[in-house]
Amino acid sequence: MKVLVVGSGGREHAIAEAFARSRYNPKIYAVMSNVNPGIRRLATDYLIEKETNVPAVVEFAEHHNVDLAVVGPEAPLSAGLADELETNGIPTVAPVKDAARLEFDKAWTREFMARNKIKGTPRFKVYRDYDDACRYIGEFPDSVIKPAGLTGGKGVKVMGEHIHTHAEACEYIASVLKNDRVVIEERLKGEEVTIMAFVDGKNLSPMPTVQDHKRAYENDQGPNTGGMGSYTDNTELLPFMLMSDYEEGVEIMRDTVTALHKELGVRYRGVLYGQFMITRDGMKVVEFNARFGDPEAMNVLTLLKTDFVDICEAIVDGSLDKMKIDFDRSASVCKYVVPEGYPESPVKNAPLAIDEKPEFKVYYASVNEKDGKVYTTSSRSLAVVGVADTIANAEVLSEMGLASVHGKFHCRHDIGKEQLIRKRIEHMEAIRGDRAF
Ligand code: AMP
Ligand code: GLY
Repeated sequence: MKVLVVGSGGREHAIAEAFARSRYNPKIYAVMSNVNPGIRRLATDYLIEKETNVPAVVEFAEHHNVDLAVVGPEAPLSAGLADELETNGIPTVAPVKDAARLEFDKAWTREFMARNKIKGTPRFKVYRDYDDACRYIGEFPDSVIKPAGLTGGKGVKVMGEHIHTHAEACEYIASVLKNDRVVIEERLKGEEVTIMAFVDGKNLSPMPTVQDHKRAYENDQGPNTGGMGSYTDNTELLPFMLMSDYEEGVEIMRDTVTALHKELGVRYRGVLYGQFMITRDGMKVVEFNARFGDPEAMNVLTLLKTDFVDICEAIVDGSLDKMKIDFDRSASVCKYVVPEGYPESPVKNAPLAIDEKPEFKVYYASVNEKDGKVYTTSSRSLAVVGVADTIANAEVLSEMGLASVHGKFHCRHDIGKEQLIRKRIEHMEAIRGDRAF
């Protein structure tokens, strides 16, 4: 069997590893935009190319006669890569463009959710007109301003956090409207969590909940990043979460997949990523992504016990309802090593090395391997994952990983530590107020 992995980050290294663990022993082919040493080691052959170059990816897949493709990042999905692979007879674990719209068009998604009365839709408005948008933010200052399109998570401005005055808000609205529509929505308050699910068009099989850490510096300070690290507990829940939160989140995701089919006749296949705020009024959708999260994929795929090839085949066959997907009942803590100065002025081409040890897993990300040495790029470099019976013990193992890195780098040591988790629990208790917890 031959499989194709598209993408060059930590998420895709984890996907390639999941294939490498399969009892079918598939040959792995990769398309990546940088030489990820982890993927390179696992791959029979690879192509260094932009993942959005759809014809080049399809040609590589056809040349190697791959049986199945998995697409990691979002950009190729909005370029129609899944559609083209499918058209060329390559079953693909990723949604076609019409379904991936859930991620790359936030305005459409909010309107779609409202039309289909999907639970957990926050109050929102979509504007093309500057005056109308400015008037609305004046009326509802406790809001969030987002461009409708893809921004790598960096286009969202939260009033009271990134923007403080009406004038600043209008200035930002004007800059967004230059090349996009603007979405203004209710500022949700609570704890943010990620629930990802395997989806085969009809059936949805959820994974354990993960919490990512978007801010660059410890104690959730500094600019937003692609994610500095993430953890899972030894159940599907996180320490501040109720089973009813999880069930509500999964139900919202299931209703969304059903509504997509009903409204557009499109079957969503692949991984659906639901980003939720657990609020006083239950689960609210912050956004959907049409793929695994990065870093979240490194947590769940490290814990995955079921053969990943069987899962991918069930996704493309529409038979997920016939299989039980198991995860190791352990906790996991993932921490990213990023270049010094990341995200604002990352130091590129700095040498980095890690002594790999059995106590932790290493996933390489946006680095380049040259003459056997690894160098940073402007994005996240590599991640270490600790797995143990408790979050605290997994965190200790992830720190062993960080202590094994040579070179200059930045990371967040606080992820998964008792103090930060306590803060999350107390925050959620305050949000829920007198509600049962
Ligand atoms: P997104 O690109 O939609 O994931 O947004 C990036 C980040 O902005 C999210 O992870 C949240 O922390 C924050 N955010 C987005 N939408 C909202 C909202 N409606 N209320 C509060 N925070 C939000
Ligand atoms: N970790 C956030 C994302 O993958 O979008």
